Amino acid sequence: MKDKKYAHRLLLQNVSLSYGAMPVLQHLNLTVHSGEFVVIVGPSGCGKTTILNLLSGHIKPGLGVISREGVVRTVYQQDGLFPWLTVSENISMGLRSLKDAVQREKELQSLFDLIHLEDFKNHYPHELSGGMRQRAELARALAGDSDILLMDEPFSALDYQTRLRMRYELVRLLEKRPRTVVFVTHDIEEAAQLADRVLVLSKRPTTILQELQISAPKPRDLTDNEVINAMKEILERLGILKENIV
Ligand SMILES: Nc1ncnc2c1ncn2[C@@H]1O[C@H](COP(=O)(O)OP(=O)(O)OP(=O)(O)O)[C@@H](O)[C@H]1O
Ligand SMILES: [Mg+2]
Repeated sequence: MKDKKYAHRLLLQNVSLSYGAMPVLQHLNLTVHSGEFVVIVGPSGCGKTTILNLLSGHIKPGLGVISREGVVRTVYQQDGLFPWLTVSENISMGLRSLKDAVQREKELQSLFDLIHLEDFKNHYPHELSGGMRQRAELARALAGDSDILLMDEPFSALDYQTRLRMRYELVRLLEKRPRTVVFVTHDIEEAAQLADRVLVLSKRPTTILQELQISAPKPRDLTDNEVINAMKEILERLGILKENIV
C-alpha cells in the first residue's frame, strides 16, 4: 500500500454557492495535487466546512465544476465514531470494501499497530480519552484504500498538549499511509506545522486571500524557524498582529 501511486487530486473550478440569498462562495478555484497536504484557515462562517462538503460530494455547487479522483474519507471535529460499536468494530467500518476476511483481519491488526490502541480494541468510544478517540477515527479514515482525507478541525476539541501530540501522530501515520489531505483549522500553529500549502480565506463571500507554500520537512517543531515565519505570515494576512488591533 505504501508504494501505491497516488494519481488523484481534487479540483474546484469557478465554484459558487449560496444559501438562500446569502452568497458563501463566489468563483472559487482550487486544485489539490496528489499527496499534497493543504490547510484551509479563515474566519468563522466563511465557508470552510462548506468547501469540504463540496469536495466530498455531500453538497452540490450552485455553479462551477468539481472533480474528485479517488476514495474520500472525512474526519470530523469529534464524535465521529459510532458510540454503540467497539473501537475495533468502528475501525472495521473503514474496511468494508475488503471482501477477504483474513485480509480484513490483517489490515485491522496493522491499523491497531499503527495507532497503539491494541489494549482498547474491545472498548466503546465513551471509555476512551478524546485523544484516543481521534486516533481511532484516524485509523478508520486511513483504513483500506482511501485516497483523500478531508479533515474538519479534527483536533480542536482536544486539550493543547494532546493536540500537539496528534500533529506528530498524523505526520507519522501519513508517512506510513500517504494520502492527499485537505485540513480545516482555526489553529495557526497547526497550519504552520502540517501544511505543504496554506490557503487563507476571506470573510463571506469567500475568496482566497493568500496561498502560502511551506516546504520545510516534516515533522516540524513549533519552534522551527520555518514554522514561526509561516505563522507570522498567516497572522499578517488574517489581520491579527498587534498593529492591526485597536
Ligand atoms: N445547510 C445550511 N443552510 C443554510 N446556511 C448554511 C448551511 N450550512 C452553512 N450555512 C451558512 O454558510 C456559511 C458558511 O458555513 P460553514 O459551516 O461552511 O462555515 P465555516 O467556515 O466552516 O465556519 P466555522 O469556522 O465556524 O466552522 C455560514 O454563514 C453558515 O451559517
Ligand atoms: Mg466549519
